[in-house]
Formats: sequence, C-alpha cells, structure tokens
Amino acid sequence: MRQTIRLYLMLGALLAANFTASATEGMWLPHLLGSLNEKEMKGMGLKISASDIYNVNKGSLKDAIVSFGGFCTGEIISSKGLLLTNHHCGFDAIQKHTTLQNNYLDRGFWARNLREELPNPGLTATFIVRIEDVTKQALAGVSASLSEKERQSAIDKNLNGIKSGAVKESWQEVLIKPFFEANQYFLFVTETYKDVRLVGAPPSSIGKFGADTDNWMWPRHTGDFSIFRVYAGKDNKPADYSTENVPLSPKHFLPISLDGVAENDFTMVFGFPGRTSEYLPSNAMKLLVEGQDPARVGIRDAALKVIDGYMRKDEQIKIQYAAKQASTANAWKKWIGEMQGVRQTKGVERKLAYEARFRQLAGANSEYGTLLDSLNQLYTDLAPYAVARDYYTELVRNVEMLTLANSLVNMIQDTRNKGEDKYPALRDRFLATAASGFKNYNNDVDRDVAAALFDLYFKEVPSNKIGGEGYQIWMETNKDGRTTANHLYSKSALTSYAALKAFLDRPYATVEADLWKDPATRFLIALRNGYSELVSKPYDAIVPDINRLQRRYMQAQMDVLKDRRFYPDANSTLRLTYGKVGGYAPRDAVEYDFMTTLDGVMEKYKPGDYEFDVPEKLRELYASKDYGQYGQNGKMPVCFIASNHTTGGNSGSPALDAYGNLIGLNFDRTWEGTMSDINYDASICRNIMVDIRYVLFVVDKFAGAKHLIEEMKLVHPKKAKVAPVRKKAA
Ligand code: ARG
Ligand code: GLU
Repeated sequence: MRQTIRLYLMLGALLAANFTASATEGMWLPHLLGSLNEKEMKGMGLKISASDIYNVNKGSLKDAIVSFGGFCTGEIISSKGLLLTNHHCGFDAIQKHTTLQNNYLDRGFWARNLREELPNPGLTATFIVRIEDVTKQALAGVSASLSEKERQSAIDKNLNGIKSGAVKESWQEVLIKPFFEANQYFLFVTETYKDVRLVGAPPSSIGKFGADTDNWMWPRHTGDFSIFRVYAGKDNKPADYSTENVPLSPKHFLPISLDGVAENDFTMVFGFPGRTSEYLPSNAMKLLVEGQDPARVGIRDAALKVIDGYMRKDEQIKIQYAAKQASTANAWKKWIGEMQGVRQTKGVERKLAYEARFRQLAGANSEYGTLLDSLNQLYTDLAPYAVARDYYTELVRNVEMLTLANSLVNMIQDTRNKGEDKYPALRDRFLATAASGFKNYNNDVDRDVAAALFDLYFKEVPSNKIGGEGYQIWMETNKDGRTTANHLYSKSALTSYAALKAFLDRPYATVEADLWKDPATRFLIALRNGYSELVSKPYDAIVPDINRLQRRYMQAQMDVLKDRRFYPDANSTLRLTYGKVGGYAPRDAVEYDFMTTLDGVMEKYKPGDYEFDVPEKLRELYASKDYGQYGQNGKMPVCFIASNHTTGGNSGSPALDAYGNLIGLNFDRTWEGTMSDINYDASICRNIMVDIRYVLFVVDKFAGAKHLIEEMKLVHPKKAKVAPVRKKAA
C-alpha cells in the first residue's frame, strides 16, 4: 500500500516536471488572466495588472484590439480611430485599389488627409465588449447518452436561448463559441464597425520585402504594416459606409513606446489566433505531418511553380495573381516548416511518451486509459480518407476552372432545391461573383496549373478514391494532364466571363442539361461524385466518433493532469500570449540574435529584384543615417523575435511592453517554430514582429506622413523613472 502511494507520488513528480508547459506556452482568455496568469506574468516582468488588460467597467487594453476583417488582428493607435495592421492583412484592400497606372502595391499609398482615405466595402473591425462563461447553460440537459447529432441540436437550442437572453445594446452582437473541444462555452458581446478606410501602405519592397524567400524565416527584414482608419456614425456607433461618417473615438488606444526592446524584455501579444490543435493524440499528429501536409505541399508546389513563372515575366499577371499567390505560398511554406519542426523536435515521439504517462496515471484499463487507444485507432482509420480529401480539396482550390465549375454546380443544385423560378436571381448573383473572379484570372496560367495538377492527382490518389467517371475522362484524354487540360480549356464555357454569361443566359432546363456537355463541368461533376461517394462519405462517418472521443480525451487530460495549466485551442477568439524577447538556436552551431536592423536590408538588397529590391528613398535614408528619433545607437532596428505563442490570425496583433505600450507588430513565426500549432516548444518557437520604430520611421521619414505621427501618442517608458500611469483615451 505504502509503496503504491510512493510510486504514485514519484509518478506525480515526474509528470509535473514533464507536463508543466513552459511559461510562454499558451493563448489565454483575457477575462481569466487574473486567476490563471497574473502572478506568473508579474514574475516575468508585467508592470500593470490583469484588470488593465481586460476590464468591462473601464477602458482597458482589450478595447484597443480588433479582429480585422475576421482574418487578422488590428489595433487602435490614435484617438481618431487610426488602425495598425500588417501589410499582408491589408493586401487585398491595397490590391483592389491598385491598377497599372496607380500601382499602390508597387509604390505605396498615403492619404494626405481624411478625404483621401479609401473605403473598402466589406472590410470590418470588430471589438470585444465582454466575455462570459456560459458552459452551464449551454450544456443544460445534455447527457452522455446522446448521439453527437442529438447533443449538438440540444446545445444549439440552449445557445439560442442564451443568445436571445443576453444583455446587449441594439448595435452589438452576441457570439457563443465552444472551447476545450466543446467541454466549455464562452459568450462574446461584440461591436463591428463596417467603414474601415485605407490610410497608408508602404511599397511592397518594404511591406513585403523578402516575399516568399524570407516568409516564415529569421533573420527577417520586412516592414509588414499598413494603416487604416475606423469610421463611425455621428453617434460613434457602427454604421455602413457613408461620407457623413466620422473617425471613431475609441475607448482606448495604444500609446507607442520609442524605447525599443532588449533581450529578456517581457512582451505580450494580444489578438485573434485562428486555429491550433495542441491536444491531438499521436496518430493525429502523425497523419498530419506524414500524410496531409505532404499531400497539400505537393499540390501547391506544382501550382506555385507555374504561377511564379508567369508572375515573373508579366506585370499584369503579377498584379492579378499577387494576393492569390501570396496566400497559396504562405500555407505551403508553413506546412513544410511544420513537418520539419515536428521531425526535428521528435514531436510524435514526445506525444507517445506523454500518452504513456497519461495512461499510467489514468489507469490503463480505466475508461480514460482505453479511450486514448480508441481515439488513436480512429485516426488510423481516417488516414486514407483524410489524405484523399486533402488532394481533392487542393485540386479544386488551385485549379480555378474547377473552383468555378464547383460553385456553378452548387448554384444549379440550389436552384433545383428552391425552384426553377429562383434561377434568374441565383444566376445573377453567381455571375456577379464570377465577374470579379475573372478580373484576376488568366486562362494560360490556369490551364498550365491544371495540366500539372491533373498529372499529380491521378498519380497520387488511388483510383478507388477517384471513381469510375473521373477515371474514364482521364483515360479518354490519354492519362495525360496536358491533353486533359487542353481539352477542357479549348472547349469549355468557363474560360471567360462572356462565354459563361452566354451559357447561363438560356432557359434553366437547357443550362442544366448542358452541364454534362461542357467538358469542365463534366469533369468536375465526375470527380466530385467519385469524391463524395468514396472519400467524403466514409470520412464523415468517422468524424463524429472522433469529435466525441476528442472531447472526452480533452476532459480526461484536464482531470488527470491536475498540475498542468490548460489553455483552449485557438478558435479566432481574443487571446493574450506572453513571452520574452530573445534569440534561439535551431540547429547545431547555429544561433540567432533577437533583432535585425536596416543594415540587413541593405545586405539583402538586389537591385531590380522581384523580392529584394529596396526603394531609392530608403537607400538614401540609410546612406545619410537619417533615422530621427527612431534609431538606436546609429542603427535602424527593423524586426525582433520573442517566445510568444502565436498562430495565423495573430498577424497584425500588437506586441506590447510590460506597461501595455505598443513596441511592435506581430506578423510571422520562425520556420522551425510553425509546428507550435500542434507542438509548441519554447526552445525554438519564436514569433516575429516589426519593431514599431521601423514602422514610425517609414511613415515619417520615408513617406513624409508626419500628420499621422502627430496623431499618435509617443512615450518613453524606459526613460521615465516611475511607471507611467496609463491614460484613458478621450
Ligand atoms: N507568414 C505570414 C503569415 O502567415 C506572412 C504571410 C504574408 N507573406 C507572404 N509572402 N505570403 O501570414
Ligand atoms: N502571418 C500570420 C498571419 O497572417 C501570422 C504568423 C503565424 O501564423 O504565426 O496571421
């Protein structure tokens, strides 16, 4: 008896050592900082309190943070609604205003006054007003005996009740999201501003300096920022775009520190991380890095080779494909880094060790002990379908003709469901979307992408996951990607807007019948039928079981590993992460410093290069060392890294100092560290930020937009003897 207790205690100690996440791991919910993190944060250097970060009764840091368009983060940096985010977050907006004559991507854009700021229909900025735990109400009456479907519908009903009962103002919205694999639910009251205008952007040779070669890499020298302004109605409330709207007067805006960072400085990143999966079992991690990542990388490799070739030789195509290429390349490179990082840090082995200890502690034969084996088995069963699913999804995503054919088929199905009389309206909406797609479309590029991807698809995906119809067309076209592509692109109505419009401007019955005659839609339908029968159906049959066990496993980890502090996976809700400024050593004999300077920009400078050109004005400023108040010891700081745990969606998030002043702008992670989405490792995971002084230097010295600097509040927290009292914005 005594011995078992001792063994148990020893095990506990072992677990404590191994399972206590590093202090810098975690994306924490802002309203729980006081109970979970404040003490540790203060120990690491925080000089303000948790209630200065999140407070529902007075302006706090959270009131300066917005979800930018739902895909990035932005922060308010002036009393007149000035918003800072990344260049790559504003990229779509900048591209939409760009033409060959007014090439804002190339030359940058700076509004000289409010009237010159450019509206961006559809772009939004969302503030978080309040967060509440509604787990109890959400799970009321939900018992373990319910099927996944029944459970969900019971919860949905509860959520509707909670939503309609929530206290909020008329212009606010309520959002409830599941956390910890749907073991907990939190409610968010939000305010979404719909008039967000472009104020300024540096040329891509600063904002995207290093482009794909440097993306996800350190040392980095990118000035990845752009500036917008949030507009409100005259009552300061959200309003649709109108010339009558006025700049937002925020509850809080971030003061900007001119004092820079030193090694080991405490930092926080506050924003909207999109998605992480930190609590997967080992087989899921294996599937991801050995099956799914390679599949997705393979397809995009082939697509990017074609697109890059065209973009480098044709200016028009370069503009048309800029945003698409950037997003395709971005995930492609991230997945490569993820595979490498997990391999290098033995991620799967570490998961296995974690699972062995979990099993021991839970009791191998207990319910918790066995559920892990079942969960791992489910991922093994899922693997072939998951990989085939990624191949199909990536094929349809990257061959735009198939993307278009797919939405055309959806529209026809929609018509079939809703009734033929709805056709004209559905068609017109479809055509409007298609029209904007065609603006950034080039048939030659797409045909060549298709040729390459067809070869890959039919080589890599087993025929029993493709199906007879698709395979037959592949045989008809000699099992050759080029022949198949030529066949589709020479005969389809989907190659131009005019042809598509003519195809659809006919009686509904004719259009429906002709879907089978058009080679592009015929091919898509054939592939899609095979996919849904042979891949999607069996995949969907396994997923509910995975969800159920993943939820149980999450709860089990929280129950069994009492001394591990758990944070919920990212789900695009507001989170705070904290860490320290510092370099890292990714490989034997390689050690990275924590900060880069303009010297490094000039080292990388290649005149006229696609990725590494440097604008003349910047070279002049470098030559004369004209850095004004932004330089440090004769150098111009550009980027720095720290151990904040971030992910996609954290782009544009403010990097804050111990007082809550803005010191940088988060925009990336280091390559080896992209695995932090499934396997955070404090020794090599670093987030990359632009130094705020570089941002201000570019705005002021490079662009001459002094009026923007005057709007901001610049502070010197390190030079001040006592901690400055944070002032609430007017
Ligand atoms: N890797 C960063 C992120 O995930 C920056 C992406 C933008 N840059 C690019 N070359 N695609 O968003
Ligand atoms: N660039 C990413 C974004 O758009 C942030 C980098 C990351 O994934 O950490 O959100």
